[in-house]
Amino acid sequence: MLWLFMYILFGDALVATFEVIVPNKHLLAIRGRPAVLGCEFTSGPDLSSLVITWQRQEDSRVVHSFYYQQDQLDRQCPKYHNRTSLYVSELHKGNASLKIASVRPKDAGWYFCIVNNDKGTGRALIEVTYGALYSEPRLSIHVNSSGLKMQFETEGFPKPEVIWLGEHNQNLSYYLEIHDQIEDGLYFIKSICEAQKAVVNVTFTLKNHLLNQNLQRPVCLTYDEDSTDHVIIVLAVLSVVCILLVIGIIWLAVHKQNKERSSLR
Ligand SMILES: *[C@@H]1O[C@H](CO)[C@@H](O)[C@H](O)[C@H]1NC(C)=O
Ligand SMILES: *[C@@H]1O[C@H](CO)[C@@H](O)[C@H](O)[C@H]1NC(C)=O
Ligand SMILES: *[C@@H]1O[C@H](CO)[C@@H](O)[C@H](O)[C@H]1NC(C)=O
Ligand SMILES: *[C@@H]1O[C@H](CO)[C@@H](O)[C@H](O)[C@H]1NC(C)=O
Ligand SMILES: *[C@@H]1O[C@H](CO)[C@@H](O)[C@H](O)[C@H]1NC(C)=O
Repeated sequence: MLWLFMYILFGDALVATFEVIVPNKHLLAIRGRPAVLGCEFTSGPDLSSLVITWQRQEDSRVVHSFYYQQDQLDRQCPKYHNRTSLYVSELHKGNASLKIASVRPKDAGWYFCIVNNDKGTGRALIEVTYGALYSEPRLSIHVNSSGLKMQFETEGFPKPEVIWLGEHNQNLSYYLEIHDQIEDGLYFIKSICEAQKAVVNVTFTLKNHLLNQNLQRPVCLTYDEDSTDHVIIVLAVLSVVCILLVIGIIWLAVHKQNKERSSLR
């Protein structure tokens, strides 16, 4: 009776001596970079009984597995080939973290960290979210007689917030096109702002809220009025020179005639 009482009081605590935990339940993984899915367990002295399995929750695909003191990758999902590793030297400390090299869009999802050793068995769940930093926006400017068009193109993930600001930080109207490039796991963004004047001072702003990315690219276009003034001055000087030349030729002609007349007399 006393034992039963003791069990009710402390049983849970005794069972809970073996634990598998993930320090961060949500991991933000960035395209092309490695991701470390943290997982800890109550370590025992005997590594020979240790079994670690990393598995996708949605479809039970094997991401990585380890037993008999080595990686066992026969049943690994091909999408993860050559991209996963454990920190083998940290296993005795209870570190079952998984490293996935060069993150891809389809790495996003839920992962089970399942650990088994002589102290017990347990598992924990971690969510991986995928994001891609927007690439340096490519600017192109199209000018015609009625105004000009500024266009930026870039790729990233997820959908961004786009704002065009005027000289006094006022919102400008703009055109935005978003294409879903499913294969690459990127959104292709094209945004256009039009201006009627030849002088513009606007700022293209793109925010990827998931990754705290905030791109601001100012576009400043002026045209140098002095250069047209120079042309006018040069034209004016040229016409004065022409007029002087013509006057000179006429004067010479008249002078010559006068000379001829006086020599005839
Ligand atoms: C496990 O070890 C790796 C490599 O030393 C380290 O980066 C990671 O933070 C460790 N994770 C935990 C949960 O201790
Ligand atoms: C993994 O790497 C090996 C050798 O480096 C290579 O032969 C194999 O094709 C790679 N597998 C995948 C799926 O990339
Ligand atoms: C100038 O381009 C705009 C679009 O950017 C177009 O609507 C307009 O018709 C064009 N004007 C001329 C004169 O080509
Ligand atoms: C453009 O506008 C910003 C303020 O929005 C100002 O600081 C900057 O000097 C302006 N540039 C030019 C060339 O007028
Ligand atoms: C401009 O638009 C953004 C969102 O589109 C809004 O958050 C901001 O308050 C607006 N700014 C002004 C000055 O209207």
